[in-house]
Amino acid sequence: MRTSLRDKNILHGVTGSVAAYKAIDLIRRLKDIGASVTSVMTDASKNFLTPLSLELATGNKVYTGLFDDPMAHISLTSKADLMLIAPATANLIGKFANGIADDLLSTCLLSFKGTVVVAPAMNWRMYENPVLQKNLGYLKSQGVIEVPPEKGRLACGEEGVGRMADTEKIIEALRAAVTAKDLSGKKIIVTAGPTREPIDAVRFISNRSTGKMGYALARVARRRGADVTLISGPSCLNPPPDVKFISVNTAVEMKNAVMEELKGAAALIMASAVSDFSPKNKSRTKIDKASLKSLQLESAPDILAEIGSMKNRPFLIGFAAEAGKNVERARKKLLKKGADIIVFNDISMPDSGFGTDTNKVVIIEKDNMKELPLLTKEEVSEFILDKISARRA
Ligand SMILES: Cc1cc2nc3c(=O)[nH]c(=O)nc-3n(C[C@H](O)[C@H](O)[C@H](O)COP(=O)(O)O)c2cc1C
Repeated sequence: MRTSLRDKNILHGVTGSVAAYKAIDLIRRLKDIGASVTSVMTDASKNFLTPLSLELATGNKVYTGLFDDPMAHISLTSKADLMLIAPATANLIGKFANGIADDLLSTCLLSFKGTVVVAPAMNWRMYENPVLQKNLGYLKSQGVIEVPPEKGRLACGEEGVGRMADTEKIIEALRAAVTAKDLSGKKIIVTAGPTREPIDAVRFISNRSTGKMGYALARVARRRGADVTLISGPSCLNPPPDVKFISVNTAVEMKNAVMEELKGAAALIMASAVSDFSPKNKSRTKIDKASLKSLQLESAPDILAEIGSMKNRPFLIGFAAEAGKNVERARKKLLKKGADIIVFNDISMPDSGFGTDTNKVVIIEKDNMKELPLLTKEEVSEFILDKISARRA
């Protein structure tokens, strides 16, 4: 099961919103990941962005008038894998919901059989207007995907929900739109990032985990239709859209959150780097440097082993970060912790391990072992999630 926008043809509508300029960045990112974009502009959008800017960004001819190229309203949509309207005005949403086809973009929307993704952008009062919401609700009931606008300062100077969603969220919605939902109906818990074990009010013990592997797993699992809970230690990353996000600090907090979420879970993937030790005597104030000569440590909870020993536990996947080719040690971890899979991760390899966008892993099962080449963390996630998908419900 692989998900990609590579080589997909995206027919992109631009409408008359102040957010039209954001289309350029969006197109660049789509092209970076190998998609082909052709833009159709409404007349109103030309007040905000020139056709030339879009032509340079897409590298393709830009279409505007319905009668400039008489068959464009059919030929453009027959070649497209997806339609994206970003930004989408209240006017365009209203026309689409009511079957009005009075320009090239609205006519294309009616002649297109595939998935349409809309990213509304407008003043918050326009977005809250019941007429707009009714139109949007109807489109969504017909399978149109909305990437909802965000709250923030709007071009008119007011504050509210109406800013077009950011580029990464729109791209994630497009990825999700071309992905088969093989994990639909499955609850998957993912833990990510480091834990922080306080020494005193300012100091702590932690590790170099950034959360990138766990966040990638959560993002791809959601894309494939799973009901995802992401339990994360401190991380600078933005949680993926549409996942239940629980933020924790310590190993104890992470364990409690996992235990609370376990009910109904089909799988637990422990991609977090849970601290092995925690300071025994934590101070609520800052300890004076002179009196902090040594630290007494106690074991932090071993969440993987605790879940591994449970009778009714979900399918359990752990990670083993090892410096060097210690595959055998990782195999032993599988047996010792009672997990179903251990993902061995050689952190001494270049481009693998903490903070990188790629990983070199071996997927270890009781009776099977598969070494993967260096892959992006999303690609590694696909292989791991295939193991959950292959299990019977
Ligand atoms: C300066 C300015 C900014 C506008 N920004 C938006 C906007 O962000 N969202 C929106 O729905 N309409 C906005 N409008 C109104 C639309 O441009 C107007 O409804 C137009 O008819 C939309 O045409 P279209 O949907 O064919 O592009 C704006 C109008 C002006 C004058």
